[in-house]
Parts: sequence; structure tokens; C-alpha cells
Amino acid sequence: MRKILFASSEVYPLIKTGGLADVSASLPIALQQHGEDVRIVLPAYRQCLEALGEINTIAEIKLDGFHMPVEILQSTLPDSDVILWLINSPHHFDRDGGPYGNHSDGDWPDNAARFALFSRAIAAIAMNQLGLDWQADVLHCNDWQTGLAPALLSQYADRPKTVFTIHNLAYQGLYSRDVFDSLDLDADTFWHSEGLEFYDQLSFMKGGLSYADHVTTVSPTYAQEICGYEFGYGLEGLLSYRAEQGRLTGIINGIDEQEWNPETDPYINQTFSTKKLKNKLKNKAALQQHFLLPVKEQSLVLGLISRLVAQKGIDLTLEAIAHILEAGANIQLVCLGSGEPDFEHDLRVLRARFPDKVAIHIGYDEALAHQIEAGADVFLMPSRFEPCGLNQLYSLRYGTLPLVRNTGGLADTIVDATEDNRRDETANGFKFEKSNSEELEQTIYRAIDMHQRPRIWRKMMITAMAQDVSWENSASSYQALYDNLA
Ligand code: ADP
Ligand code: GLC
Repeated sequence: MRKILFASSEVYPLIKTGGLADVSASLPIALQQHGEDVRIVLPAYRQCLEALGEINTIAEIKLDGFHMPVEILQSTLPDSDVILWLINSPHHFDRDGGPYGNHSDGDWPDNAARFALFSRAIAAIAMNQLGLDWQADVLHCNDWQTGLAPALLSQYADRPKTVFTIHNLAYQGLYSRDVFDSLDLDADTFWHSEGLEFYDQLSFMKGGLSYADHVTTVSPTYAQEICGYEFGYGLEGLLSYRAEQGRLTGIINGIDEQEWNPETDPYINQTFSTKKLKNKLKNKAALQQHFLLPVKEQSLVLGLISRLVAQKGIDLTLEAIAHILEAGANIQLVCLGSGEPDFEHDLRVLRARFPDKVAIHIGYDEALAHQIEAGADVFLMPSRFEPCGLNQLYSLRYGTLPLVRNTGGLADTIVDATEDNRRDETANGFKFEKSNSEELEQTIYRAIDMHQRPRIWRKMMITAMAQDVSWENSASSYQALYDNLA
């Protein structure tokens, strides 16, 4: 049994801001089912300690650069038997608010110290320095919050192999030289352009990109996109180099098929399947009722569940929907999200203009997310970039046809409803190329037209629902990668 230490700054259902949390629970579970011995390591945020049942303190360690020792707590990931190790440093993690900041004040000012501490603890566990009698074979890190761990491990000859997965290159953990100096990192070793330095700044992300034995990201298309100027954010040279070495791979995410299963989903009005598709309409009616929209079967209901940030093309959606509603088309928009105040405000304005066509819920609501997936006809994801995207995968499972921009994981999972693709029964959604509201608008009109043709629509729903979005293949791809780490 191979020992894999899986490090992440968010894990569903304990703490979540986005898809990273979903993947950090469902991938370890899938790997364990594939015969690996996986331990998850996560900061002991206040919410996590409150949510978990039994927790034991199993070790304590003093880490370089930090005055107080930290404790390692042990529990299990809810609804699984995957062991969870929590890094307990109350000064850093026991506070109200999100994992990276709180809504009103933005990022926590001590994030560099918080995640340097987390990375140091990960490295110590990976090197079996805590007397836990568990020597990792592979350390699998995720996103910038864990980026210093592969850098720290690179200093040991007898270290485990390291994998670093990029879930979103837009968030890099960039800090000043002063911050670097405060973290007790050796400048001769790390402060250079092939190390952690990025144009005179400390880059946590580069800890993963420069030092991990292998870098992965969450779709094959995004793996290519980040090697180019538009999505590389200045790291495209390094990433192209890693790709040339054969050390950059794109592996598409899977989903937790128990959590997102229309046949058993406890949150939705009526469970359904390809054999009981009529029940999906009951969810549509329930959704319209919930949001006090006119209950009309003929209206095309567009769902949107998202962090409200520019990445997700929220501005394009606002423009396109306003235009389409001005023209009097028979659609309804149901939107669940939170994020940038400007987008929240603009959505409220749109609802005020079209109260019987637009419904919004600002906030985070897991149950409502399931109800929208179940009740909507179309799921909107006009992202500017999308490393993988999980919501389009949930949508496929619920027969809610994704309408997406052709980028990243959306490009790899969605097949446009062209005539050819419909004929060979591969079409499972709608796709457009350019990030502009005109193309989005035209594509929504294509969906409106197609919705008038129930037989075709039904066929597309069945194709979508039959698509394999499980972890089966992707977990095997990670195992093959662990096998071949050099
Ligand atoms: P990202 O990680 O970039 O936000 P993903 O599509 O990978 O995008 O994952 C987003 C996850 O967060 C999904 O599980 C989605 O359902 C969830 N989500 C986003 N916003 C909300 C919200 N307001 N309420 C409930 N779930 C949300
Ligand atoms: C990031 C990406 C998203 C991806 C998720 C999980 O948050 O923005 O596209 O699905 O990570 O890998």
C-alpha cells in the first residue's frame, strides 16, 4: 500500500470556498478505494474543529520560524474512514471568518505566516519527523497555500516524491521580500528566479512549480493554456519548461457521485433518473415556486451557481441576460452566489428590473445549489478561464445542459449541440468561443430554440446524464503518475 499525504487548505464538508474543497475530499476517497493509504492534512480552522466529532492530539512540534509549538490533531473525514490530520495553531487558525479572510476586510494580513506554518508542518509530517510512524511515499500538494512544502522538502535527500496540483493559477500567494525574510527561509537557497522569487516577490506558487517532482493541473486544456501568455501570468516560461520535461500533466477532476446523485439526492423535491425524466420537471416547478417566479414549464430556466468574480464571466451574463429579457424572450434566470460587491449589486439591479424573470440568492447555500442543479434546464458557465469546473459536471449528472465558454475543463467536458454532434449523439450542452456578451447571447438563443424541440433536448439530457464524470479514470491517472515519479 502506497502512503500518500494529501495537503490542502480546504476540504468539503469542513471548510469550502470553491471546487478545491470538493476535490480535496472526493479524490482522497477515490484513491483510498483504489487501494492507496491516504492521509489528508488541513489547517485546524475554527469551523473544522466545531464540525468534527472526535479529535485526538497525536503529536506536537516546534517549527522553524515560529515561536509556539503546533499540535497535530487526528480525526476522520466525515462520511468516510480517510484519516484527517489538522495543524492546530490557534493563533493562526482559530478565528471567525473564512480560510483566507473575511467578507468585509478581504484577505487576512498574516496569510503568508499562516500558510508558511502550514507548509512547514506538512513538510515535517512528510519527513516523518513527528513520531507518527507513517512515512509518506508521495506528498501531494494543492494550490499556493501548500506551495512552500515541496520547496522545503527539496532540501532532503531521503524525501518522499512530490506532486503539486494547480487548481487556479490566478491565485499565487505573492508577498514582499520583507515577508520572505520574516519567514526564516534561507535566501541563498530560495531567493532566485529558479526558486521562490518572482520579479522581486516571494511566490508561494513557485514553491510548487519549481520544486515539485511533477506538476499537474485539473484539465488537459488548462495544462496547455497556462503555458501561454494569456493564462500563464508570467509563469508560462517555467510551466512550458516543466511541460517539455514531461513534468506537467492535466488530469480532469471527477465528482463525488454519492453527494451529487439525482436518484438519491435528499435536498431535491423529486429524485429522478434517465428513466424518470418527468420528475425533473417537478424540480423545475419547485425551484420556480421557491424563488416566487411564475411556474411555467415552457420558460427556459437558466441556473447559475458561482463565486461572483470576473473569472466566471458574471459581467457577460448580466449584459447578455438584460438584452435577452429586453427583447422579451421566455427565459428565467436563477442565480446563487457571493463574491465581489459590484456583481452582487448589479445582479440585484437586474432582478429589480425583471422581478418575474430573475431570481437571486446572495450567499452560500449547499441545499439550494442542489435544487438549482435539479430544477434548471440550462447551467450557465461563461467563464473567461476555468481550470476544470465542477458545476458543469454536476449539471451533466442532473440533465441540466451546460452552456459554457470553450476554455479549460469546460472545453474538455462539454460537446456543443451542433448538428453533427447531435446526429452522433455526443452533444451534451452549448459552447461558445469568445469572451463577449454577444456570443453568449447568441448561444443562449440557440438554447432557447433547441428547447422548442423536446425530442432533441431529451436526447441531449440523456447523453449528458450517461457521461462518466466519476473519479474512476482520473484516480487511475494519478496512480499511474505516482508510479512513474522520478
Ligand atoms: P471554483 O472552484 O472556481 O469556484 P468549481 O466549479 O470548481 O469553481 O467549484 C465551485 C464549487 O462551489 C461547486 O461545488 C459549487 O456548487 C460551489 N459553489 C459556488 N458558489 C456557491 C454558493 N453560493 N452556494 C453553494 N455552493 C456554491
Ligand atoms: C479551482 C478552479 C476550478 C476547479 C477547482 C477544483 O477553484 O477555479 O475550475 O474546478 O479549482 O480543481
